[in-house]
Amino acid sequence: MRRAVLLALLALTACSKPAKEPEAPFAFAATSITLPAETAALPASPAADRVTVACTACHSADMIVRQPPLKPEQWAATVKKMREVYKATYPESEDAGLVAALIELQSPDAP
Ligand code: HEC
Repeated sequence: MRRAVLLALLALTACSKPAKEPEAPFAFAATSITLPAETAALPASPAADRVTVACTACHSADMIVRQPPLKPEQWAATVKKMREVYKATYPESEDAGLVAALIELQSPDAP
């Protein structure tokens, strides 16, 4: 019984004291950053148009042209990942055409 009263008192004191806000270890200040200019551009071609429409809504063309030369099955995995993981909106029926376009756009000495 005494123990229950003690516990109740303990709970009451714990609840009645508002938790003290911890001191912020830093202060926010207005700042700005300058991002590097986007320089990558896909050449004007039907393949580039296809890739631009399907791929550049979420990230720059840099993300595509700065990849090492990839084999068709590797591009196919990327195209699938963009759709299934990141919710790109092109339908699965577009995959083969996109892979062909990506292969066409990458460096001619690619495997
Ligand atoms: C719905 C948004 C979206 C679309 C559309 C999209 N991507 Fe991505 N992509 C992402 C995100 C998010 C990442 C991860 C970015 C990061 O890690 O910083 C990414 C990353 C990548 C990468 C880096 C390697 C990797 O696997 O993470 C490549 C290459 C790439 N995308 C190619 C493409 C291509 C090619 C297309 C068009 C067929 C495309 N993306 C369309 C969202 C998208």
